[in-house]
Amino acid sequence: MRPLFQPRANTIAKASIVGTAVLILLTVVVLIFVNRTSWATKVGIARQQPVPFSHKHHVAGLGIDCRYCHSQVEQTAFAGMPSTKTCMTCHSQVWTFAELLAPVRESWATERPLQWERVHNLGDYVYFDHSIHVNKGIGCETCHGRVDEMPLVWKEKPLQMGWCLDCHRQPEKYIRPREEVFTMGYVPEEPQEVLGRRLVQEYNVQTYNLEDCSTCHR
Ligand code: HEC
Ligand code: HEC
Ligand code: HEC
Ligand code: HEC
Ligand code: HEC
Repeated sequence: MRPLFQPRANTIAKASIVGTAVLILLTVVVLIFVNRTSWATKVGIARQQPVPFSHKHHVAGLGIDCRYCHSQVEQTAFAGMPSTKTCMTCHSQVWTFAELLAPVRESWATERPLQWERVHNLGDYVYFDHSIHVNKGIGCETCHGRVDEMPLVWKEKPLQMGWCLDCHRQPEKYIRPREEVFTMGYVPEEPQEVLGRRLVQEYNVQTYNLEDCSTCHR
């Protein structure tokens, strides 16, 4: 009888171990790569909504302030979303019978809120708070881009950990005067490094714990 394992079997076994290791490594590399593509992070991809609400029309066109609809953004972690009542303040007067607005009228009649698709959504294991950022002079535009130019909102930034940390290490690169937080297309009047360093002091920005794991994962 021939031996069950030919000497060749050894080589095959070794090769398959090495092969598996290489395959695992490749998979990890590919996954990391895919994780950073816009397909995975959805950066730049507009989200379809129950009503094609346009920030471009309402913010740039009509000049409505962010706080009219996202009214809690200065006080709480959550920016807040407009209720149907907020839309109806105007749309019981203008575009009253528009087909596009049928879901708004239905929501108003049935008292069932509109189900907006979330564009930004961090994992539950991350803590984020709008109010601290807004009150320390970080503009909406810095994190969300030119929302006033978006017919439908897309994600401008990946919202991955590295992105948060980049600013937490050097907020002076991004900070702006508080009164400019809601401004779209803000351009500083003096070099950002001079302004940034001054505002970090003036607003007493605490950087000592901004990179601690427990600041964001609590
Ligand atoms: C007239 C009301 C209104 C105004 C004014 C308004 N928004 Fe919105 N915003 C909405 C509605 C409705 C949605 C949900 C639909 C969507 O995501 O496109 C939304 C969604 C968003 C989102 C995405 C939320 C998510 O799902 O992650 C961001 C970011 C945002 N708005 C920022 C802003 C900024 C910045 C301003 C001021 C420059 C602003 N909005 C002004 C009504 C408004
Ligand atoms: C301050 C008044 C005001 C508020 C509040 C408002 N709208 Fe409008 N909306 C308008 C006006 C005016 C137009 C017509 C714009 C135009 O002709 O360019 C409009 C147009 C629209 C249109 C038609 C497409 C477009 O963008 O031109 C949609 C859809 C719409 N609004 C949805 C909403 C929703 C949903 C809300 C609530 C989250 C809302 N609007 C809140 C004034 C308002
Ligand atoms: C430091 C970055 C940053 C700044 C500054 C910022 N946002 Fe956000 N925003 C985020 C992140 C991150 C999320 C997702 C939060 C989550 O999933 O828990 C978000 C979510 C939102 C949402 C969806 C509802 C919510 O609260 O989850 C709206 C609306 C919004 N932002 C509006 C605004 C407006 C208006 C401003 C300016 C006043 C602003 N944001 C400033 C990072 C920022
Ligand atoms: C463009 C700059 C910038 C970006 C981007 C940014 N932050 Fe911050 N963050 C700040 C500043 C400035 C503070 C305020 C520090 C202080 O003075 O307390 C802060 C504070 C915080 C705090 C402390 C809040 C508290 O109540 O103690 C948390 C948590 C936080 N950020 C989470 C995040 C997360 C999560 C992200 C990414 C999704 C993020 N930040 C992105 C600038 C930024
Ligand atoms: C400034 C806020 C912030 C700080 C500080 C922070 N993280 Fe994160 N972390 C995030 C965000 C945002 C994500 C991605 C959430 C998402 O994709 O929804 C994340 C994701 C993660 C993940 C999941 C894997 C990944 O990369 O997406 C791990 C693990 C993690 N963080 C560990 C840590 C550890 C360990 C520390 C301390 C050395 C730390 N984090 C500090 C914000 C932070």
